[in-house]
Amino acid sequence: MKQPKRYLVTSALPYANGPVHIGHLAGVYVPSDIYVRYLRGRGADVLSICGSDEHGVPITIKAKKEGITPQEVVDRYHRIIKESFERFGISFDIYSRTSSATHAETASAFFRKLYEQGDFIEQTTEQYYDPEAGQFLADRYITGTCPKCQSEGAYGDQCEKCGSTLSPTELIEPKSAITGATPVLRETRHWFLPLDRYEAFLRQWILTEHGAENGQGREVWKPNVYGQCKSWLDGGLLPRAVSRDLDWGIPVPVEGAEGKVLYVWFDAPIGYISATKELFARRGDAEGWRPYWQDEETKLVHFIGKDNIVFHCIVFPSMLRAHGGFILPENVPANEFLNLENDKISTSRNWAVWLHEYLDEFPGKEDVLRYVLCANAPETKDNDFTWRDFQARNNNELVAIFGNFVNRAMVLTHKYFGGRVPAADPAAGLTEYDRGTVGEMPRIKAAVEQHIENYRFREALREMMNLARLGNKYLADTEPWKVIKTDPARVATILNVALQITASLAIACEPFLPFTAKRLAGMLRLPERRWDDIGSLSLLAAGHELGEAELLFEKIEDSAVEAQLAKLEAAKAANAAACATVAPAKEEPVQFEEFTRMDIRVSRVVAAEPVPKTKKLLKLTVDTGLDTRTIVSGIAEHFTPEQLVGRQVLVLANLAPRVLRGIESQGMILLAESPTGALSIVAPEADEVPAGSVVG
Ligand code: MF3
Ligand code: ZN
Repeated sequence: MKQPKRYLVTSALPYANGPVHIGHLAGVYVPSDIYVRYLRGRGADVLSICGSDEHGVPITIKAKKEGITPQEVVDRYHRIIKESFERFGISFDIYSRTSSATHAETASAFFRKLYEQGDFIEQTTEQYYDPEAGQFLADRYITGTCPKCQSEGAYGDQCEKCGSTLSPTELIEPKSAITGATPVLRETRHWFLPLDRYEAFLRQWILTEHGAENGQGREVWKPNVYGQCKSWLDGGLLPRAVSRDLDWGIPVPVEGAEGKVLYVWFDAPIGYISATKELFARRGDAEGWRPYWQDEETKLVHFIGKDNIVFHCIVFPSMLRAHGGFILPENVPANEFLNLENDKISTSRNWAVWLHEYLDEFPGKEDVLRYVLCANAPETKDNDFTWRDFQARNNNELVAIFGNFVNRAMVLTHKYFGGRVPAADPAAGLTEYDRGTVGEMPRIKAAVEQHIENYRFREALREMMNLARLGNKYLADTEPWKVIKTDPARVATILNVALQITASLAIACEPFLPFTAKRLAGMLRLPERRWDDIGSLSLLAAGHELGEAELLFEKIEDSAVEAQLAKLEAAKAANAAACATVAPAKEEPVQFEEFTRMDIRVSRVVAAEPVPKTKKLLKLTVDTGLDTRTIVSGIAEHFTPEQLVGRQVLVLANLAPRVLRGIESQGMILLAESPTGALSIVAPEADEVPAGSVVG
């Protein structure tokens, strides 16, 4: 789009069922904060919107577990999250919550408009019902075995193990999360948004307008976002229920909907609109929110994690399109996931670095975490946070490059010029080398801008650090501490240049390291500056008095890192102990006899066909050498029937049979799953191993 008049930047609303951890920060909040701070520095009209997502089943489950009300759960976590964001310098213009009255009104009005326009389908379907608890089991109220990866504890909406989206009826051996009872199917009436009706619009809007450079100035979406959208669109969109049988949420605002609330993913994104309204209501400008959501010259950008892509790129835009009264996002820069010490971050296993704990344990080091999370942001692929890397980046980059440069410039000026900015030598002027150095600043500035505007925050950070590198190299090459003995006028020039670079650095680092920027500006007594002043040689006038030199960063010792690693080990041990009481076998090594009980055989796939009305299941006929049998496998999204027929596979042949979608599955195909979730068939190297050969 051409130069927007204003920006509206949203960050995914965190669920108020737990505190925020580094995965959330690296994926969403650090990048969005860099983006908005940068835009503000440029003088743009920009709003940063966020708030707590307070509806949905996980919150009611947590409440039940702790014997408190859902409202008490969200009150607790809303406060913790809001406070920790503030302490961490995340500069939202508003941090609201979806249990607010404004939100209930906004979301209800939104639903009613679509309802009145006839945009919903009303349908009675069979859903799982817990006869003991006397309630329907929405989403996470139902657990079972994942049809795709066979792991236990998958939820009615998603398997966290393999990441696949599920519907409750796909689960194998479903159980109620409330009572553990086996649920029964019962009829219930719901409202569905027929996404299929928006397919043509979505294809045009995402795949054409935002798919590749199309000459119309629309932003090209990131490959990970585009790819997920394309595969959803190619897979065919189906109507999605926008209501649930629950007693926590926004009541469905139509007659005859007692006991039904809006689905959390229907109301939550509307929360961005409600929060904007609240912001302006507080400012006493009740209509002020409108241009941000209604004027085509607003650039709306949603920062999210990859698990939110479908909701922000497919579902919410379809809702906005149906409604008709709001603009659509120009971009949805979703990040991948951050791991911690080579393991998936997990709230339930307490494998996480919690923001509020970090802030308590590393006071004054907000920027160190911001720096490391940005430098390691999972922008194009999943990435890993390790405490060793945290230490190394602090010690080798922030301390050794940034801190060192600033400190040398400050200390030398105090030493040689009584803390006053020396005037560059008017007679000799700048040398060729000086000019080359200062000439780098506009190039760095432009590179930072390019990267930020294209959501490449790691690259932007690297370029910002190049300003500090530039200054360090300049001092190392010009050696003012030696030259002072022979040519003090030259040293005046050198330190003038070094201090101007320092001042530029104070401005350029602000989006990334806001606390440091403030301290540095304080040390330099630098009056408020704008982004466009970066590279100027007159940021600090000759004779200007500097403040005291302080160290901006300090080394992080091994002991601090070891303490954090020990804390994680303790979490792991506590978790293992908890697991052991539930399922003792899991943590113990497998005995040889147990292994030999498994009958794994080389087999050949003789036929394969999709199981009707499922996306994931294939019905395979395999020749095990002993017999020909049927196996149902959740691999339809990874292999076509053609790719499988004729191939050799390994089959766990004496697995207890299971009925899946009415078909008895007599065994399991062995597959290797890569860390990214890609599946490959495990089979003998050569094809001449006869079917029936035993593996072991
Ligand atoms: N609470 C969701 C999550 O943490 C994100 C909601 S984003 C919104 O995954 F758009 F729905 F608000
Ligand atoms: Zn799974």
